[in-house]
This record gives sequence, structure tokens and C-alpha cells, in this order.
Amino acid sequence: MGAGGHGRVVLDILMRSAAHQVAGFIDSDPSLTGRRMDGKPVLGVLDDLPTLRKELGVDAAIVAIGDNGIRRAFADRISEMGFVLINAIHPSANLAQSVSLGSNIVIAAGALVCAHCHIGDSVILNTGCIVDHESMIAPGSHVCPGARIAGRVNIQAGAFIGIGATVIQSVQIGHHAIVGAGAVVIDDVSPLSTVVGVPARTTHRAVSTGATDREVVGDQISAQELVAPLMHATAGHSRSV
Ligand SMILES: CC(C)(COP(=O)(O)OP(=O)(O)OC[C@H]1O[C@@H](n2cnc3c(N)ncnc32)[C@H](O)[C@@H]1OP(=O)(O)O)[C@@H](O)C(=O)NCCC(=O)NCCS
Repeated sequence: MGAGGHGRVVLDILMRSAAHQVAGFIDSDPSLTGRRMDGKPVLGVLDDLPTLRKELGVDAAIVAIGDNGIRRAFADRISEMGFVLINAIHPSANLAQSVSLGSNIVIAAGALVCAHCHIGDSVILNTGCIVDHESMIAPGSHVCPGARIAGRVNIQAGAFIGIGATVIQSVQIGHHAIVGAGAVVIDDVSPLSTVVGVPARTTHRAVSTGATDREVVGDQISAQELVAPLMHATAGHSRSV
């Protein structure tokens, strides 16, 4: 689900890994329905998934949306609809055998994930990032391209680690915190904070990684309410979207 830039990356990963047969995209923008993206059709919107399941035999999906909160909300909704949420792991990514993985995870080209890391649901480990030993990446987080996460780092839910950032060992990054591009984090980062620079310093607090982050809004809005006005999806596997 999601026929944007991240969707194109995820499609490329799925096509290269050959573990799934991609039926096409779904997207929240109805004007995209009927178009093609990198050779795959945009099949419809979220509400079309039950029909697509019957007509095309689609039984699995992955949410390919960069925004941490929206990605998690759609993953919940699609899972509730009975679809299996798959992972997209690029063949050039290198994962230690002891790494544990949730679902709806994207691990892009060249990413390295070392021993005994735990990668939660709906995490993105983007191109060429490094996640070293025993680090915990909680659900809905995004480690951007080229970021380097040292050993025993604890990245909490919905956090965003910017492109090229470095996080030294045993640091905790609070939920929904934002680490700016190129920052070097040497101390714990508070939840909802934004830090930038070398060494990283707080710029401001309470910057959401997306208005749909359930932890930020106190779970007062259901995933379905969030998703309905916002999206449509992608599918493919034995057929997924
Ligand atoms: C950290 C970030 C989120 C801040 O965005 P913002 O809240 O809009 O902040 P602003 O652009 O208003 O900048 C606020 C201040 O922080 C500074 N700043 C912003 N980003 C910075 C960074 N990455 N490194 C150092 N300083 C930075 C600005 O120069 C500004 O300083 P000033 O107050 O002295 O003028 C953003 O700049 C950033 O780094 N995003 C990461 C993008 C990324 O990794 N994309 C990859 C996607 S896959």
C-alpha cells in the first residue's frame, strides 16, 4: 500500500527478492487508480482490498509509506482486514541469524543488522544503514539511509533517525523522537524531542513524526478513523498489494 517514492523502493525490493508475486499498488489517492507505477497497476483504494482479494487472490500486503504514524495505522487496518503483512528485505541486506523480526518491515539495500537485534513491526531500516549488536528498534521507527546505530541502542516506538546520523552504544532514543540528519547522539534522547548536530542537542520538543501517531494522540483516534480519509493500498504475494 502506498504508490509514492517509498512504494517504488519497496516494489523494487519485492521484485528482486522474488519471494512474492506483486499484484499491484493500492493508494489513498483515488486519482491514481488505473495508472501504472514501475510496471505495476494502481488497483484501487483501501476499501477495494476485500474485492481485490476475491478477484485477484491477493492475500498479503505491505505498507510502503514513509510517515511512521500513518504506516502503523494502515498496517493495523490491513491486518484487521485479514491480510498477512509481509516483510520486504533486499537481497543485499545482511542480517545476523539471531536477528528477530516483526512484520511489515522494510530492510533496504545494503543494510547491516548484527547479532541479537530485535526489529519491531512496521520498522524501516533504510539503504545502507547499520544496526549493531543487541539493539532494539521498536515498532514504527525509521532508521534512514546511512545511519549508524551502535550496539545495545534502544530506539523506542515511532522514532526517526535521520540520514547519516550516528548513535553511540547503549543510548536510548525516546518514542517519536527525531534525530536530525548527520547528528551524533551521545546521550539519551527524550521522547518527542528533536535533536541535531555534533554532538546532538535538543532543538525543540513535541514535534510529531505524523499527526496520526497513536501514542501522541493518546489512542483517542482509531486506526480505522485515521486510515479511512487518508489512503488506499498496494498488494501482491501469492498475490500481494
Ligand atoms: C532535524 C529536522 C527534522 C529539523 O527540521 P525542522 O524542525 O523543520 O527544523 P528547522 O529546519 O526549522 O531548523 C531548526 C534549527 O535546527 C537546525 N538544523 C535543522 N536540521 C539540522 C541538522 N540535520 N543538523 C544540524 N542543524 C540542523 C537549523 O539550521 C535551525 O537552526 P537555527 O535555529 O540556528 O536557524 C530536519 O532538519 C532533518 O534533519 N531531517 C532529517 C531528514 C532526513 O534524514 N531525511 C531522510 C529521509 S529517508
